[in-house]
Amino acid sequence: MHTYLLEQREQDVPESNDWLGARERDHVRTLNFLKRRADWRLGRWAAKCAIASLQNIPLHADLLATIQICPAASGQPEVFLHGSLADVTISISHRSGLAICALAANPVRLGCDLEIVEPHSAGFVADYFTSEEQELIERAATTDRWRLVAMLWSAKESALKALHEGLRRDTRSVVVKPATLSCGEAWSSIEVHSIEGECFHGWWRETGERVQTVVADASFSPPIQLQAPSSADQESAIDAA
Ligand SMILES: CC(C)(COP(=O)(O)OP(=O)(O)OC[C@H]1O[C@@H](n2cnc3c(N)ncnc32)[C@H](O)[C@@H]1OP(=O)(O)O)[C@@H](O)C(=O)NCCC(=O)NCCS
Repeated sequence: MHTYLLEQREQDVPESNDWLGARERDHVRTLNFLKRRADWRLGRWAAKCAIASLQNIPLHADLLATIQICPAASGQPEVFLHGSLADVTISISHRSGLAICALAANPVRLGCDLEIVEPHSAGFVADYFTSEEQELIERAATTDRWRLVAMLWSAKESALKALHEGLRRDTRSVVVKPATLSCGEAWSSIEVHSIEGECFHGWWRETGERVQTVVADASFSPPIQLQAPSSADQESAIDAA
């Protein structure tokens, strides 16, 4: 199984909404809070760039509008191409002006997440992590502690997304087992075990002060990094239209 990952920043997102499909445009009008609207648009843009990159679709607004990312009842994002459900699974995460979208061909349950490395209270660690994870955090060197917390939290969120449940479910119902506690920018493997006995396989890496995780219900090689089609492609596609 191949898994793909694409990153986009807030400044990459076009100002107009003409790259959104009709259902998406209806939804964006309901988002009254600026931050939520910006995050939602950024996640959609990253997802559409990932699909466009894989399918060699130029970054032309009319073409991107035929790709729609709409939530299932659970909140899990689903991809529609020309109105029909596509045979791919995606997962979206956005945080502080950056979004990632992970993508894989069906059948798969997939989740990705992006977190910032930052201090948390002792209560946060006590409330949301299993005793096994708390021991790992206690044993970590002070300099590694918050990166480890970010990675464990991110891997939990990825698994909870892959389960289509998100934070409706207790974060202690999934236990993260990392192969290494520090990895730099190279991907390092993780497993996330659910209390029901399922095992999600995945990867984590650090990018600056952020941590990314991707997990799936089958083992896979580190995610293949996709690039958005360049803005030169975007301009030539617009010229050709
Ligand atoms: C999934 C969840 C844990 C992610 O929260 P987060 O870390 O703050 O945000 P992230 O940026 O990492 O991820 C958000 C994306 O997760 C995806 N997502 C949301 N619910 C999901 C679910 N049940 N399963 C899989 N993915 C989900 C969406 O694509 C969402 O982005 P979008 O709404 O812009 O499309 C959280 O949204 C959640 O628990 N949702 C389910 C419960 C819910 O709907 N609560 C209402 C708000 S309290």
